[in-house]
Amino acid sequence: MVSRFEGRVAVVTGGVQGIGQGIALRLAAEGAAVVIGDLQDDDSTARRIVADGGRAAHVVMDVRRPGDWKRLVDEAVGGFGGVDVLGNVAGVTNTIGPDNVVELTEAGWNHVVDTDLKGVWLGMQAVIPRMLGGGGAIVNIASMAALKGLENLAAYSAAKGGVVSLTQQVAMEYSPRGIRVNCICPGTIDTPILAGITDEMRANFTDAHLIPRLGTPADIAAAAAFLLSDDASFCTGEILPVDGGWNTKGSAG
Ligand SMILES: NC(=O)c1ccc[n+]([C@@H]2O[C@H](COP(=O)([O-])OP(=O)(O)OC[C@H]3O[C@@H](n4cnc5c(N)ncnc54)[C@H](O)[C@@H]3O)[C@@H](O)[C@H]2O)c1
Repeated sequence: MVSRFEGRVAVVTGGVQGIGQGIALRLAAEGAAVVIGDLQDDDSTARRIVADGGRAAHVVMDVRRPGDWKRLVDEAVGGFGGVDVLGNVAGVTNTIGPDNVVELTEAGWNHVVDTDLKGVWLGMQAVIPRMLGGGGAIVNIASMAALKGLENLAAYSAAKGGVVSLTQQVAMEYSPRGIRVNCICPGTIDTPILAGITDEMRANFTDAHLIPRLGTPADIAAAAAFLLSDDASFCTGEILPVDGGWNTKGSAG
């Protein structure tokens, strides 16, 4: 494995499982010290990185809370000397009710939008002042729901669409000052977020891709590591679908 992140410090939210875990493990394998922020009090990803000879820490935090972001960044700065890259990964679907625009409750809207959009804003707000002067790179995880209409994902689509727009806006403002900001729109990725889907839904999600399988956290981690590395030094404000061809298949006439 190449070592594109040797000497760098990464903050990754949602790193206990799924896509965030995949990104944390990949960045650590390439030499980064990784500080994981997650709602779950479970430091197994950080312990796995340390057991493999890497450097990592776990902070129990909620991406919706500015004070929690301060603790997370303080851990990165105090423990490892700074923040060079941010993976804004933590996110939720509406698990507290329907996500149809008519049936959606205000609580459901707030749950999704506060986590998936406000959390991404707060993350960039917390790390960008630390990156100014030394430069940095940020990847925000959106969704194909930001790019096309998907059923029963009203609040989720609105939040992820906001992540796409915010990525471009922040890239506009901070790229000239040495901070690159990009966004990935994953296809359907086989993670615990899919717990509870039926076999039929799983088959439909698979069929939606031109590459006939679900994606893996490693698929997204490979793209995130590219965008966060110097290999992507001419990429900013990019919205990258990593979707097994879902977008292309969906647009075929
Ligand atoms: N899996 C997919 O098919 C898919 C597709 C497109 C986009 N995404 C996005 O990728 C990201 C990761 O998804 P995943 O499939 O790995 O989900 P997941 O549910 O497996 O993991 C999400 C992680 O985020 C953490 N988290 C949730 N709310 C949090 C909060 N308020 N503060 C801190 N941590 C919190 C959870 O504890 C968990 O560890 C999400 O933003 C999701 O919307 C996933």
